[in-house]
Amino acid sequence: MNQNVSTAGSDTTAQSKAPVRSELTASDGRTKAIADDPALLSMMVQGAQQSGPLWIATPYWQGYRDRILREIARTGVRGMRNNQILLKGFAFGGMPRPELPATPFKRAVWQMLAAFPGVRRILAEHNRVFAAEYERHKAARRNLARVAMDEVAKTFPDLKPPPGIANGGADDAFSWRGHLLVPAYAMYLTRIADFYARVPPAEVTSILEIGPGLGLSTLAHMTLNPHLRVVANVDIVPVLYLSTQFLRTIEAVDLVDYREMRDHVSISIEAPEDGLRLYQMAPWQLPKLEGQIDYFFNAFSFQEMEEEIVRNYAAEIFRLVDKGALIHSMATGHKPGAGGQRAPVTLEFLTEVFSEKWPRARPIDGFWPRLYGGSADLTRLMTK
Ligand SMILES: C[S@@+](CC[C@H](N)C(=O)[O-])C[C@H]1O[C@@H](n2cnc3c(N)ncnc32)[C@H](O)[C@@H]1O
Repeated sequence: MNQNVSTAGSDTTAQSKAPVRSELTASDGRTKAIADDPALLSMMVQGAQQSGPLWIATPYWQGYRDRILREIARTGVRGMRNNQILLKGFAFGGMPRPELPATPFKRAVWQMLAAFPGVRRILAEHNRVFAAEYERHKAARRNLARVAMDEVAKTFPDLKPPPGIANGGADDAFSWRGHLLVPAYAMYLTRIADFYARVPPAEVTSILEIGPGLGLSTLAHMTLNPHLRVVANVDIVPVLYLSTQFLRTIEAVDLVDYREMRDHVSISIEAPEDGLRLYQMAPWQLPKLEGQIDYFFNAFSFQEMEEEIVRNYAAEIFRLVDKGALIHSMATGHKPGAGGQRAPVTLEFLTEVFSEKWPRARPIDGFWPRLYGGSADLTRLMTK
């Protein structure tokens, strides 16, 4: 994930007991709750168990997958917008907390140690300082997001964020021109604005994204493109489950979930006359998808797979997508062996694979590099 922010410019202190601005509190009460659907999750897990290695988490993501599944079993998804143990790796929200050991014995030893009065006092102090830092960081991220929103609005004065972006009581929510937003959304919006600054929205009525994470990029597209009718999002289980449960709280979205598509031999893309239909798909459902899609998107997710997984996806993307692709990725991929990855997936490799269909590859500069410390060198807009 890449969301460079400065932590300067906050007046929140650890000791402060003064009333805080309303935006410094959680947005609960102003947002819709996210609901658990354990039956949906177990269908997805079962589907993954029956799928081949090209369609499930590769080594880099297996640890993440297991951690997320453990945390869902412990807490469910209700507090997910503020639970870093659920979101770490693909989304923001909530004060970072150490993850307790997975084994019951080690967990019990830690809990015993933490109960000693001396240790308890140190941990309490640590938590207090950490919570203050978190508030400061949150304030800085909100300030940056406001600047980003103002900047994007200068080029896209008709932008319209769909209501619900902070759903689930995101504790970093803030108001901007009457919309309740979260800082991470503004970062995704800058990336997508850089795309629509080059490709007219009217030419993009359908998109496919692989590895969108929580789905704030989908909401960014909706904000800038009133012509968009179809989004197909593909992500691994259980990230797909978390994003499905969040995105189904957005009223402007007609969401088709994994359960509805599960028994279909083929899934035809049906564009509604108005509004947006969102297909929330597991990787192994992608070969069943039929129809034509305008553009493909991938941001910092291919770099965490293996080359053969990317080639496998590319075949499906070439079959479905016509006009082009936008890829964000680290130039040299992750460092060798990161998270058990067999070999780095570089931007050069991705460019080579996708140039088979879209030989024109150009980096795109703009809001994201300027505001979020990204770099045009990490982007490739690929067209015919
Ligand atoms: C670093 S996150 C990036 C999320 C989002 N695109 C962004 O820019 O913030 C990587 C994403 O890739 C997804 N992912 C990892 N392996 C995948 C695979 N084999 N197929 C589909 N998605 C995958 C993860 O679940 C996660 O959503």
